[in-house]
Amino acid sequence: MRFHFPLYSSSSFSLFSDFTFISSLPLIFSSSHFSPFISMAPAFEPLSPPHQEAEPQTATPHHADTVNNFGNDGQVVSKSKVTVVGSGNWGSVAAKLIASNTLKLNSFHDEVRMWVFEETLQTGEKLTDVINKTNENVKYLPGIKLGKNVIADPDLDNAVKDANMLVFVTPHQFMEGICKRLVGKVRGDVEAISLIKGMEVKMEGPCMISNLISEQLGINCSVLMGANIANEIAVEKFSEATVGYRDNREIAEQWVKLFSTPYFMVTPVQDVEGVELCGTLKNVVAIAAGFVDGLEMGNNTKAAIMRIGLREMRAFSKLLFSSVRDSTFFESCGVADVITTCLGGRNRKVAEAFARNGGKRSFDDLEAEMLQGQKLQGVSTAREVYEVLSHRGWLELFPLFATVHEICVGRLPPSAIVEYSEKKPSS
Ligand SMILES: NC(=O)c1ccc[n+]([C@@H]2O[C@H](COP(=O)([O-])OP(=O)(O)OC[C@H]3O[C@@H](n4cnc5c(N)ncnc54)[C@H](O)[C@@H]3O)[C@@H](O)[C@H]2O)c1
Repeated sequence: MRFHFPLYSSSSFSLFSDFTFISSLPLIFSSSHFSPFISMAPAFEPLSPPHQEAEPQTATPHHADTVNNFGNDGQVVSKSKVTVVGSGNWGSVAAKLIASNTLKLNSFHDEVRMWVFEETLQTGEKLTDVINKTNENVKYLPGIKLGKNVIADPDLDNAVKDANMLVFVTPHQFMEGICKRLVGKVRGDVEAISLIKGMEVKMEGPCMISNLISEQLGINCSVLMGANIANEIAVEKFSEATVGYRDNREIAEQWVKLFSTPYFMVTPVQDVEGVELCGTLKNVVAIAAGFVDGLEMGNNTKAAIMRIGLREMRAFSKLLFSSVRDSTFFESCGVADVITTCLGGRNRKVAEAFARNGGKRSFDDLEAEMLQGQKLQGVSTAREVYEVLSHRGWLELFPLFATVHEICVGRLPPSAIVEYSEKKPSS
């Protein structure tokens, strides 16, 4: 990387000032009963335990006209109906998590619809038919049962029409088209959540996916991000996630309930933009980490890339949205997601192959060969971030982000990720 050293000295530029480690220490170490799970409990905005609680037999607070059924005491229970829009690797795992909860919780209708972008498999069968027959997404999540209450549906309009809770989880490049198709097709009282990492860059500036959904469909949209490599959650290994919500705490609690399991711990924070930008920008850092692996630079270099990347993530997020909170970068969506994607994950893996090939094989080629239909997000996000940086005159302030894009498009060799330059930042 063409390092701009003054940028990284903690005193040089207030946006990059050091994290407030000291103030968060007492929160982490104050627990007298030390156990991993206690120490991992939400540090900032604790909720009552989401998944074991006895469900109230009364209506959910914010959706009056959801599907009605009777609870054990004969009272009418208003049930929320969930549809997952997307059925790739993470989409399928999200459907599995949700479906295990809707079966247990009275305030949700058991069935979870999952919209599938229809594909014909090599066997000649339709993916949707195979999912509904085997209860497995054989292409994107083979070997994992989704739960009998997950119903795959190739018809987008039909999949969303009854839902009052929509979970969006497709690669970000398809969302604009999906939103256009959904205008006027969703219920008026619907709440949405986006699990999508990425952004759209428009003439007027960057547009986060949650914002795209909100604006195009006229609905509120929260986000869920975190250190969540889908295949690990699929086999029920413990991990955490962060729900970012705008202003309605009850809605955040509803999402936390829907996703939380004993192996998937969800914390709400009131910072949609911060959470979403973390999830989006960490993929650019993961590409840089992949280059470092491909160049066999070792662990110190990779740790440096993660640290610099996290600082650029925070600075970029705060420049775009002054409301973004520093504490968000300590949640699962922040530092934890940077670590997991720089150690594992598809962006790192393909970037490593790119660097091993000396940048001579394109990312498109490598993606097609290595990912079997799964999509890379980091390369397109790096381009989108670069467009924002160049449009706003911020390129000099974000050498890691800028260098990642220039390597991806072949303007610089992969080794540029660790090259030093004396150039000073402009501000
Ligand atoms: N996989 C993970 O570990 C993981 C973890 C956290 C977040 N995410 C994020 O979740 C989102 C979805 O990723 P994923 O892993 O579920 O998907 P994926 O990359 O595994 O699969 C690609 C999906 O895109 C669909 N698709 C292909 N062409 C399409 C089109 N023209 N229109 C609509 N859909 C089309 C495919 O059918 C498939 O469902 C991404 O934003 C990703 O960054 C993924």
